[in-house]
Amino acid sequence: METLIVAGVTEMVVGRGLPHPILPARVERQRVALVTQPGATHIALEVAQRLRDDGLQVEVIGLPDREEAKTLIVAGSVYEALARFGLGRHDTVVGVGGGSVSDLAGFVAGTWLRGVEVVHVPTTLLAAVDASIGGKTGVNLAGKNLVGLFWHPTRVIVDVATLEELPSILRREGLAEALKTGLVGDRDLFELLERDRESASLEEVVTRAAAVKVRVVGEDERDTGLRAILNFGHTIGHAVEYASPLSHGESVAVGMVAACRISEHRLRFQAMDRVTAAIAGLGLPTRVDGLERARVEDLLRHDKKRDAGGIRMVLLRALADPVIEHVEEHDVDLGLDAIGL
Ligand SMILES: NC(=O)c1ccc[n+]([C@@H]2O[C@H](COP(=O)([O-])OP(=O)(O)OC[C@H]3O[C@@H](n4cnc5c(N)ncnc54)[C@H](O)[C@@H]3O)[C@@H](O)[C@H]2O)c1
Ligand SMILES: [Zn+2]
Repeated sequence: METLIVAGVTEMVVGRGLPHPILPARVERQRVALVTQPGATHIALEVAQRLRDDGLQVEVIGLPDREEAKTLIVAGSVYEALARFGLGRHDTVVGVGGGSVSDLAGFVAGTWLRGVEVVHVPTTLLAAVDASIGGKTGVNLAGKNLVGLFWHPTRVIVDVATLEELPSILRREGLAEALKTGLVGDRDLFELLERDRESASLEEVVTRAAAVKVRVVGEDERDTGLRAILNFGHTIGHAVEYASPLSHGESVAVGMVAACRISEHRLRFQAMDRVTAAIAGLGLPTRVDGLERARVEDLLRHDKKRDAGGIRMVLLRALADPVIEHVEEHDVDLGLDAIGL
């Protein structure tokens, strides 16, 4: 069974296997540039074969792994490859991989010939629930994602069977973001992850998380207001990520615990223990021991979400009831205490 979520120009297909045909109908399309990364090659080759079976000319372009893909140098070499291949205005870029592929493929597609169609086939859970939806693309310069544009895919294809094969470390990265999405927008999604933990149906997790992201992005495409609720756990999470060896998802997990503690103090949020237990149940950390607190405080002082009024954070009044508020130094102290800093 396939679930279809349609939002703006994007249709998202969540199911087992690849849809027939893979791409949205478009008679003028002749060529497809398939952009991929090392960990997703096996899936990319299958997608390439299916596209060839559909009568298209396909060029597979391999990117360096992870953040190494998100540079202007790499974008430049992909443009060169598109020029050699002759990718025209009616042709399509398909990104097969994690969030670094969707960010780079979307960036290249949005700028090549002033914009050609892009389709994403996310192969990590994080990309399926987060990075492939919402149209944000970009590359890193001195800072992360400093250059980019909003460029929506026409289709996002999630093959749940491939996500079920993910190594558990990558699965947990995505589950952290899915839990976050439940906490700010879908109580049932939170409760599903709380109850079923790592064995939760990925089909349901992806469909629910994607529906929340689509809804929030639909109300605030350019990220000027409501979309910020998706940053729940990310203010303290980012500081922890820079100051520790923890991954993004693990840092966000810890950041969510801190944000829940602050919510408890400021807004009488009642479910801190449940959230902490749910995070631990997914195999994610709830504390960071042995990290230098001053370093995290310093990073928070320079956070880009800070303004004249201080740090603005996403907090919870209740499950799936977020607010964005300025917080005091004292609140942040309580949050850091709660994660063992
Ligand atoms: N645009 C957005 O809205 C948005 C949102 C969240 C994150 N992001 C971006 O996404 C990136 C992180 O994405 P990610 O976590 O998916 O990481 P990633 O793209 O860096 O991939 C992580 C690793 O997984 C491997 N991999 C991919 N598919 C696999 C598979 N099926 N099996 C085994 N290994 C596989 C990759 O080769 C890589 O080593 C960051 O650059 C972040 O900025 C963007
Ligand atoms: Zn995140």
